[in-house]
This record gives sequence, C-alpha cells and structure tokens, in this order.
Amino acid sequence: ASTLRVDIADVPVGSQLTVLFLGKPIFIRHRAEDEIEAARAVPLDDLVDPIARNPNIEGEVEALDENRALAPFGDSENTGEWLVMWGVCTHLGCVPLGDGAGDFGGWFCPCHGSHYDTSGRIRRGPAPENLPVPVASFVDETTILLG
Ligand code: FES
Repeated sequence: ASTLRVDIADVPVGSQLTVLFLGKPIFIRHRAEDEIEAARAVPLDDLVDPIARNPNIEGEVEALDENRALAPFGDSENTGEWLVMWGVCTHLGCVPLGDGAGDFGGWFCPCHGSHYDTSGRIRRGPAPENLPVPVASFVDETTILLG
C-alpha cells in the first residue's frame, strides 16, 4: 500500500495544509483553541452523522471530536490540536473550502452548500456523512504518516 510522510513542523496554529494522497486532497489542520472548544461543545444529538468515520479507531465509535482528532505522538494527551481528513465532500465529491468557511466555522462545500463544523462533521446541507478521517498517525513529533 502506498504511504506519504508529511512534515507538519511549519504549519501555524489556525491554518491548514492540503496534500494530495492517492489522487485526492487531504486536509491537515492545526486547530486553534477556539476551534477545538467549539467542536467539543457540540452535543451528539445535534449531529447529522453520529459516526466518527475514523479508521484509526477500532469499531464504529461516536462522532465525538475526541474520536476524530489525530492522536499525538507518544503518550501525550489528545488535545485535539491536529485534525486530518479527506478533503472530499461526502455529497458528490467536491473539495470543500476551509479556514472557517460555512455557518459552523469549519468547511463549506460550494457545490451544493454543505456546511461542516470545526471537527469536519456535516451540520447542514445535502452531504450525508462527516468528512472521513484517513489512516494516519504521528511517527515523530512533527511527522504525520498517511496510509
Ligand atoms: Fe459538496 Fe454537493 S458535492 S455539497
């Protein structure tokens, strides 16, 4: 299987890096505190898609932000600083706009108006599922391995 190592040392807080993997964009977002807080304050009942869509966690777990953010390197606590997702709208596959776009401060798909929150979860519009998390892990403090 193909893999990609991404150096995230220079991605400032509150910004996102987009890389191409297997021919599709992957968003690597270095979330600011307010984005993480907003994501973690959302009651599960408010979610359209209650499933985390994260293949890095075994089983079908709830779409809590804690179940979507990438686990940090080593044993440190998952503060949710890094969110890694496929940048492919779950409606018909357009690439959503980021950097706080949409009504929920996360991503917005301009094709048919799908709004995703700061955890990449679908909140309004025709998309049926949360933006999926790819297989990913930290291999050291500043390197994310995709695939
Ligand atoms: Fe994103 Fe239709 S492809 S809303």
